[in-house]
Amino acid sequence: MTDLTSLTTIDDLRSLARRRVPKMFYDYVESGSWSESTFHANLDDFKKIKFRQRVAVDISNRNTAVDILGMRSTMPCAIAPVGLLGMQHADGEIIAARVAEDFGIPFTLSTMSICSIEDVARHTKEPFWFQLYVMKDHSFSKKLIDRAKKADCSALMLTVDLQILGQRHKDIRNGLSTPPKLTVKNIINLMRHPKWCFNMIKTSRRSFRNIVGHVEGVSDISKLSAWVSEQFDPKLSWDDVARIRDWWGGKLIIKGVMEPEDAAEATKIGADAIVVSNHGGRQLDETSSSISMLPPIVKEVGGKVSVWMDGGIRSGQDVLKAIALGADNTLIGRSFCYGIGACGADGGNKALSILHQELDMTMALCGHRDIGEVDYSILKA
Ligand code: GLV
Repeated sequence: MTDLTSLTTIDDLRSLARRRVPKMFYDYVESGSWSESTFHANLDDFKKIKFRQRVAVDISNRNTAVDILGMRSTMPCAIAPVGLLGMQHADGEIIAARVAEDFGIPFTLSTMSICSIEDVARHTKEPFWFQLYVMKDHSFSKKLIDRAKKADCSALMLTVDLQILGQRHKDIRNGLSTPPKLTVKNIINLMRHPKWCFNMIKTSRRSFRNIVGHVEGVSDISKLSAWVSEQFDPKLSWDDVARIRDWWGGKLIIKGVMEPEDAAEATKIGADAIVVSNHGGRQLDETSSSISMLPPIVKEVGGKVSVWMDGGIRSGQDVLKAIALGADNTLIGRSFCYGIGACGADGGNKALSILHQELDMTMALCGHRDIGEVDYSILKA
């Protein structure tokens, strides 16, 4: 068992994940599209935001818990949908869902997960959220929705920014596929990760199990890029979004909104929440960071819909900055994924504990006891 006491930051977990996860899958997480300028802007723009330190204020008995779509959450964070989480660590999505459940925050299962909806439901007690990509074959999307309903998922997160896949150079160079093709280069790399391989050999969950066995006529779903271009619907429209809303009939989160006019459309369609997100800098490169687009979107639709954000959060300070700028909630992707890759459940739990402690203490040093009272005034103008 790994002693985690010396790991005190999300970056420590990232370094460990880099050593423990085969290159192809570590790179999949740690990349943005094309020049990666948006991937880096997501991080850099958080650093430019500064807090105002306050003193001689009672900061005892603090509260970071909030209500998210009717659920009490330990902090204003939910786990973002992450494709191939089950390749960061064997059974990654099941492990992750259980860690989130124990920590008391919502978990989102990606369409592109390794463990299936039914499998995750079997291994958890609390309902989780399901993230949907819309396929050309709308009847398959409908089937996924029905499966999510049957598994008691409590919200549907519809991703609207990935109908074609932003090009990620590392994935092309690495020949990303699930499970990895046994080329000489891959075998050499896998041999350097014996623990990962051992755990993978023990599990049967090694391909996209939401898809395999549920859809016909897909030639090769092991290659993510081929699968997306073959299956995802490039014609997705707001009318389709409305149809999906009606098929689902429950809580709807629309993820991938970066401009106020799209936020207004998503609000008009009746979303319960929208996520200001550039997909972690993995789709349109050379666009703004998510955090910089949060204030104009809050100005446009704040109060009418719950506004969340993701992209670039690597600390509890970043979570607090997003809340101060008007977000009602945040989604945590890479920060949590590093923990799962570094050491499964213990690493995932460590990532959440780090974020929570940083959030709580930073809020206190800004002079607040309750996350519900935090607003723009904790930031330097
Ligand atoms: C999928 O969501 C990806 O960004 O690869």
